[in-house]
Amino acid sequence: MTEAKILAVAGKGGVGKTSISAAMVRLLVRAYPDKRILAIDADPAVGLSTALGVDPGTTLDDIRKEITGEVTERTGGVSDILESVKGRLLDAMQHLSGYDFFAIGRPETAGCYCAVNTYLRQVISLLIHDYDYVVVDSEAGIEQVNRRVLEKVTHLIFVSDASKKGTQVIQTVKRVADELVMYERCGAIINRVTDPSVMDFVNTGDIPILAVIGEDAEQTEFDILGKSVFDLPERADILRGTEEALRQMNIL
Ligand SMILES: Nc1ncnc2c1ncn2[C@@H]1O[C@H](COP(=O)(O)OP(=O)(O)O)[C@@H](O)[C@H]1O
Ligand SMILES: [Mg+2]
Repeated sequence: MTEAKILAVAGKGGVGKTSISAAMVRLLVRAYPDKRILAIDADPAVGLSTALGVDPGTTLDDIRKEITGEVTERTGGVSDILESVKGRLLDAMQHLSGYDFFAIGRPETAGCYCAVNTYLRQVISLLIHDYDYVVVDSEAGIEQVNRRVLEKVTHLIFVSDASKKGTQVIQTVKRVADELVMYERCGAIINRVTDPSVMDFVNTGDIPILAVIGEDAEQTEFDILGKSVFDLPERADILRGTEEALRQMNIL
């Protein structure tokens, strides 16, 4: 049994987390055709499936609802329930070329959202043994770090644009992660940089900058057309920058 390298992408909303998560999946699939790779859309705002060009499929929240309906009739303990969640998830998740995928889904009420995050935390702990690489496109902001959903993450990739707000968010997330996440490596990708000279003003505090990615009109166009990351040309800056970041972390 191996322990997976679990990569989570965190940061403010709209900075490119989903695009970069999708780029990571593409790069890992290309680099490691024989490894077991899992992509998780952990953002209730959804998007990774579109970026990867796949159907969202059965979500973790769908499974949670099924199980919640049954649990009242069962006598088994918590670990029994978890095994059952894991089993169903492995059955329900999408097996795509070179990787598997599932989304946590979009629970309708706030209370359900906490519940699905608790499931996600447990499921990640169980799936560590079934995969070599896991990419988690996490929710914007601090919540999933705060709730220890990402506690097993080994590599934290902070994404920010060049804005002060963006870099402040990743520094806040990092401070909380230092307490609650057992990560081995972390670093930042600064995305959508229109002019390299702005980098003189970008301050990520104690987070090392792994790569800088430019504003890429093609990426925007792909997003508008709903095209997948697998159709992006090899030379796309988002692929180059994401690859550089993964190399810096010794993932590639
Ligand atoms: N380097 C880039 N150049 C141009 N557009 C980008 C770039 N990175 C991301 N985008 C666009 O920015 C928007 C937000 O990106 P997304 O990956 O969904 O961010 P997040 O997941 O952080 O909310 C999308 O329309 C995406 O296509
Ligand atoms: Mg997103």
